Amino acid sequence: MTKKTTPDEVATAYDVWSDVYDTQRNATRDLDAIILQAQAPSLFRGDVLELGCGTGKNTEWLAPRARSLLALDGSEKMLKRARERPGVQQVRFVQHDLREPWPTGDASHDTATCNLVLEHIEDLSFIFSEARRVLRPGGAFFICELHPFRQLQGKQAHFVNPESGTVQTVRSHLHDVSDYLNAALDAGLVLARAQDCRDDETERMSVPRLIALLWRKP
Ligand SMILES: C[S@@+](CC[C@H](N)C(=O)[O-])C[C@H]1O[C@@H](n2cnc3c(N)ncnc32)[C@H](O)[C@@H]1O
Repeated sequence: MTKKTTPDEVATAYDVWSDVYDTQRNATRDLDAIILQAQAPSLFRGDVLELGCGTGKNTEWLAPRARSLLALDGSEKMLKRARERPGVQQVRFVQHDLREPWPTGDASHDTATCNLVLEHIEDLSFIFSEARRVLRPGGAFFICELHPFRQLQGKQAHFVNPESGTVQTVRSHLHDVSDYLNAALDAGLVLARAQDCRDDETERMSVPRLIALLWRKP
């Protein structure tokens, strides 16, 4: 399997989305923020790596909590928005394609977090092996992603293109729950927590919007 999809197709779409990512109605984006902020505070106190930081919705929240924060994203215009957020002066932002070796050393981080990104990346094995490489022993890899059940309902990242006024989808790949679990297992990470995240937790029969998974590096 190749590590890359069509070069820059996703980044180009997010460059366009960047103008309206923070302002258009987006229940997936909003639930992700709630889920991230509900994690144990200790998870984000050390040296944190944010994968696919986008416009910095989570970066702004992580920055004052982390000892250091490295935020990577492939879209120049999403990153530009993130850099404009308040309180992120100490954050190191780097434009980087996550399908290429990450620009940080072995065992350099305590936590890596990846939110609403992996539907755009076909080869999960590379992501998980890089996560293992950059984490310190005992380090955590947290992901919060569009739930595979919703993907099976035909849902994927989309927005109203501000130029054309039409709905634009962004290239995405289906990942089953087992794909995440096996990629992590193959990389040698140990599952610590799993959560199916619904808009209304009392609606047990509703399809979860997000899946949140936490692994530890032994
Ligand atoms: C839906 S946004 C999520 C942004 C942010 N994590 C959040 O929760 O709001 C997905 C982000 O992933 C980035 N992304 C997707 N594929 C990527 C890749 N291969 N390398 C780097 N960034 C990528 C996009 O540029 C975009 O900013």
